[in-house]
Amino acid sequence: MARVAIVTGGTRGIGEAISLALKDAGMIVAANYAGNEEKAKAFTERTGIASYKWDVGDYDACHEGVAKVAAELGPVDVVVNNAGITRDGTILKMSRDMWEDVIRINLGGCFNMAHAVFPGMRDRKWGRIVNIGSINGQAGQYGQVNYAAAKSGIHGFTKALSQEGARFGVTVNAIAPGYIDTDMVAAVPPEVLEKIVAKIPVGRLGQAHEIARGVAFLCSDEAGFVTGSTLSINGGQHMY
Ligand SMILES: NC(=O)c1ccc[n+]([C@@H]2O[C@H](COP(=O)([O-])OP(=O)(O)OC[C@H]3O[C@@H](n4cnc5c(N)ncnc54)[C@H](OP(=O)(O)O)[C@@H]3O)[C@@H](O)[C@H]2O)c1
Repeated sequence: MARVAIVTGGTRGIGEAISLALKDAGMIVAANYAGNEEKAKAFTERTGIASYKWDVGDYDACHEGVAKVAAELGPVDVVVNNAGITRDGTILKMSRDMWEDVIRINLGGCFNMAHAVFPGMRDRKWGRIVNIGSINGQAGQYGQVNYAAAKSGIHGFTKALSQEGARFGVTVNAIAPGYIDTDMVAAVPPEVLEKIVAKIPVGRLGQAHEIARGVAFLCSDEAGFVTGSTLSINGGQHMY
């Protein structure tokens, strides 16, 4: 039977590429999104992949969303915690809301989703959870104490949960992308982006499908011995 996968933030950017890669791998995919109806509708029409709206930062909404996907597509075997936001600013300019939103969505979303799917994965003795961290969670980044803390937290969360999942056949891994050509990076001022690209040894931004390939591997049966790991896909920018 085809496995059922949820990709949070799966309707555009890196998430869209992940949704497509898991579909190509033979999975039934549910792509979650936050509120960009237009992009979600176009994505579903283009790919045939169902899209589901909920806020991953909302604990109850995650449980309801997972239950809806399970009722419509079947029990959830794979979750890719990809949804994420930035609210950049130096600490002197960072409001409490900027801090809390980033922690709630980026890090809290991982807990909310894992909490909703882990019992079923444990009972069925198979599961794959892949959390999308960031190079900036590994190395830190000026103006991103909120984002770096959330992403760094994701890496710790991954290592801890992998220890709980191992004996149930549930693997938990992270991917730490470097700078990838998506809307999120398009929001970076061009003069800043130029300086960033100059520091990437391969000399370019990454492409979303290059992250998706890594996710597809970690979600495969063949990756059953890989757990608690962080795969850095960053063009050689940071070796961790
Ligand atoms: N791009 C990079 O260079 C880069 C580098 C390292 C790590 N990452 C990480 O990779 C992931 C994807 O990044 P991206 O560049 O593809 O981002 P993006 O283009 O901004 O897309 C973000 C996706 O997440 C969804 N989302 C945002 N908040 C959500 C919420 N509260 N609940 C549910 N879905 C939510 C968005 O839904 P809507 O469409 O409805 O808004 C969208 O589908 C993020 O975790 C990001 O931190 C990105």
